[in-house]
Formats: sequence, C-alpha cells, structure tokens
Amino acid sequence: MVTPPRSRDDLASVPAYRAGRSAPQGAFKLSSNENPFPPLPGVEAAIADAAASVNRYPDFGSSRLLMALAAHLDVDADQIALGTGSVAVLGQVMTAMTGPGDEIVIPWRSFEAYPILAALAGASLVRVPLRDDGTHDLDAMADALTERTRLVMVCTPNNPTGPAVTRRALESFLARVPGDVLVAIDEAYVEFVRDEAAPDALDLALSRTNVIVLRTFSKAYGLAGLRVGYAVGPSTIITELRKAQLPFGVTAMAEQAAIASLGAEAELLRRVEVLVNERSRVRSELRAMEYVTPDAQGNFIWLPLDGKADEFAQAAADGGVVVRPFAGDGVRVTVGEPAANDRWLAVLRDFLGL
Ligand SMILES: Cc1ncc(COP(=O)(O)O)c(C=O)c1O
Repeated sequence: MVTPPRSRDDLASVPAYRAGRSAPQGAFKLSSNENPFPPLPGVEAAIADAAASVNRYPDFGSSRLLMALAAHLDVDADQIALGTGSVAVLGQVMTAMTGPGDEIVIPWRSFEAYPILAALAGASLVRVPLRDDGTHDLDAMADALTERTRLVMVCTPNNPTGPAVTRRALESFLARVPGDVLVAIDEAYVEFVRDEAAPDALDLALSRTNVIVLRTFSKAYGLAGLRVGYAVGPSTIITELRKAQLPFGVTAMAEQAAIASLGAEAELLRRVEVLVNERSRVRSELRAMEYVTPDAQGNFIWLPLDGKADEFAQAAADGGVVVRPFAGDGVRVTVGEPAANDRWLAVLRDFLGL
C-alpha cells in the first residue's frame, strides 16, 4: 500500500473561513460588509485600461500605487507594505513575525480570519473576551501578554461588534506592551469612524517602533473584488512583511483601480457620509424598538441575539436580506442601501413581536 501525500499535522486545527453567504436573485446582500455603491468615478476606465496588458506580469512592487499611497498618507514608500487585501497583509504579518511556540493575543469575538491566519503561521492564539458592550478589554489584553507573545491584534472598529477603541485606552495599553512585541491595529473600517475619542493610529504607527496599521481598499473605497490592502509602519517591520508577500499578487488592474480611487477623494467622502448617515438612521430605528446594540463605528451593526442568531438570519433571508449570523452569539448586518436596511428592520420588528 502506497501512503498518499499528507498535509501538515497541525492543519486539522485550522478553522475554515465562513464567508458571508451570497444573495439569491432579488435579495439584498448585507453579509460581507461590502459597499453598496458602484466603483468610484474613473475606476472602471482604469481597470479597462490595465486589462489590455494582462498578458504581462504586474509591476512587482506596485511602485505607482506605493508612491500614490505614500503621498496620500504623507509617509515614505518604505513605510508601506501592499498585499492582496488586508487579510493577505495580515497573513504576511503573522507569517513574518510569528511561528510555532509564539503567542498571538487577539480580542474575541473579532475578525474571523485572525484564528485562521494564526493557525497557518503555526502560532498559538490567546483570545481575550470583549467586554459586554462589544469593546476591547485592553487591560485584560495587556494582562494576557507573556514572554512568548510576539503579536497583538487590535481591531478598531471591531468586526463584528462595532465599537472603536479610544485613544486614551490604546495609549495606556501600548505603554504596557514590551518593545519587542508587535501591535497590529486593524483599521479596515477607519473611514466610517465618527467617534471623537478614537485614536489616530497612523500617528501611533509612525511614532513608535512596534506598531503597524492595516488598511484596505475593500470597504469605503468599494474595491473588495480587486483585493488591495496595506500595512503602514516602521520601515524595519515593513521590510520583513514584504519578504512574506505573494510575488505578483497585486494585479495591474487592482493597482490602477486603487490609484484611480485615491484620485476620487471628494466622491469617496460623500459616499462614506451617506453610509454614516444611514447607519445613524438605522440605529435610531433600533433605539425606537428599545433594542440595545453596541456603538457602531464601521459600515455594519451588531445585533446581540444569543441563541436566536441563526433563527433571525433565516427570517431575514426569508424576507429577502442575507445577513451574517454567528451562532449562539449575534448577527452582523452591513449598512446597505436604505431599501435593504428597511427590509431587515421590518423583519426584526416582526421577530421581536413589535
Ligand atoms: C476587520 C477586518 N480586517 C480586514 C479585513 C479584510 O479585508 P480585505 O482583505 O478585503 O482587505 C476585513 C474584511 O472583512 C475585516 O473585517
């Protein structure tokens, strides 16, 4: 008997990613925190332009996007690492900075890719429960640091619960983190934040030697389908992240689309404002139902439903809206177009017997 090839022993412990369900014809998809607006002006033309040269590999370092981003963020190009979505950059962070025997501290519940990427890196995960209001317990996270900790994730606003960390809490936390432990601040939804107590994480990353910020073109910029994200931080760390990148991952189409999106800043800000206003409207509807939800600083709202999460998700699907249940805990609903939001609010009213 020939023994077939076998995978790594620890692969069995890697949890599978559960993507937001796709929507059947005619239903609204509010399950993946996508942007309901079409691509920004100039983006489709930029993609079509770049499509003409897909017989060639893209520029290895995406140098034009790197320069455009550096100018946009007012940082040096060697302080930015690009990847195929911030989830890939996060994979680079975990692979480059951690390995077997190391610990990664994360808030939980948080972004579902964290446990997967940590397991793929072979590192051990230390999950620190959120507070009841869906915020990070940064004191408990600092208490969880050991001499084996190599990386700490901070997700602000936190997916799926919604609140942002405060500048003050983050600074006190950073004061307790040893210099040889990297803190990665995941700001995938930063453009939607309106909480004035929220930190300027970019400033923290640029003024410290052990902090990086992760951002993406997938959410506010509406380029989820093209896969571009990035990390900003000290050039010493960025150099290490680049070593772990997938060669030629960021395509020329993605690069040109991202550059065009950066050039459409006024329209981007207008659209983000529309979504932020819609988020406020939905939250006041929830308050009118006396249904308490955590602060929502991203383009999504968390509905604490405990054991009824799956049941509500099914009711929403029956009503024509696909949402994202987390069994036994709650449901995350993306802020979409008003008709979509009204649809699930009506389902919720029914569900609560109002
Ligand atoms: C908190 C958080 N970080 C990162 C990502 C990854 O986004 P992308 O890989 O599309 O850039 C997501 C996507 O849902 C997210 O919610």
